[in-house]
Amino acid sequence: DLGPYRHYMQKEIFAQATALADTLAPALKQGFSPALFGSNANEIFTNTTAVRIVACGSSYHAGLVARYWIEEYTGLPVSVDIASEYRYRSGREQDGTLIVAISQSGETADLLAALRSAKERGQVNVLALCNVAHSTLTREADLVILTHAGIEIGVASTKAFTTQLAALFTLAGALAQHRQTLTPDVLAQLANCLPRLPAMFNDAFAVETQIEEWSHLLSHYNHALFLGRHTLFPIALEGALKLKEIAYIHAEGYAAGELKHGPLALVDEDMPVIVCAANDELFDKLLSNLREVEARGGKIFLIAEPGCEAAFPYCYRTITLPSQTGPLAPIVFTLPLQFLAYHTAYKKGTDIDKPRNLAKSVTVE
Ligand code: F6R
Repeated sequence: DLGPYRHYMQKEIFAQATALADTLAPALKQGFSPALFGSNANEIFTNTTAVRIVACGSSYHAGLVARYWIEEYTGLPVSVDIASEYRYRSGREQDGTLIVAISQSGETADLLAALRSAKERGQVNVLALCNVAHSTLTREADLVILTHAGIEIGVASTKAFTTQLAALFTLAGALAQHRQTLTPDVLAQLANCLPRLPAMFNDAFAVETQIEEWSHLLSHYNHALFLGRHTLFPIALEGALKLKEIAYIHAEGYAAGELKHGPLALVDEDMPVIVCAANDELFDKLLSNLREVEARGGKIFLIAEPGCEAAFPYCYRTITLPSQTGPLAPIVFTLPLQFLAYHTAYKKGTDIDKPRNLAKSVTVE
């Protein structure tokens, strides 16, 4: 039942504050406890020497964000692999590696093959992050954490992606607490972010009208670049994927620091450049990247946290988020990019819930 919505994707975008609250409910009750991941998580976390994340598509982007959090909070080495590549690579796994397999459906063929392959490469444990409680993935894992996004009907992942990020943040917090790699103060600050997330996300819905105006412009372009740094780099990848997938516009996500290593050659007045800017220690670096875009006539569409938008007045369009988002920036910045893809696709009249050539669950290789 679509209710007041035109598409399931739109309905699912608006369901995210509730989906995030539902996904975080166990962590809000128990704190960053290993018990959130299964009864044997204590022992597995103690023995963990490294983390390897495997996933496909949007779930892979969630894994890329998690790498920043887990490395920063736990000091563990983290690698992130596309499941279809990992399964055909060779190389052993270091004993004690925690394989984090992320999948909305839990039935993605490449992902299942990757985790089976990982088990043959060393003494590893598998943690499944899944939206379907009884799936092949959860059955084959040693530990499980579920997202409570509810059924996602739109082919393009929205609420499944943001709830994956929320669950991965609790994983980073739980590993940090168990391994005592953060001071109690810092850990408490991270835990305090969680109850604020659904409201913070809700507030960000206010940007929809402005994003809709952007989509009128964007729908006339054939290409777009998405830029971010740190945890917003994978969000740039995700924004580009959404635009390709449902609006059929060729888009690429880049780490802003990579611009001058190639893609800057593409930038001219016909290239919209969508930038996610957090008010963090890398903001000055991002500013110098933007100056390079501006000098070549690129049209900058800036989505910024309060405080940084004034530093770069040369943007073609700017949207300021309603509040600071702290370590949860990647979750909140996803929303404007979902709206951008959705409204641009709507302008173009594409089949938003069932984009051409794509299936919701990729159960064949
Ligand atoms: C993109 C999208 C896909 C999925 C990918 C993995 O919007 O939905 O890229 O993320 O097919 O699917 P799961 O998470 O079910 O393994």
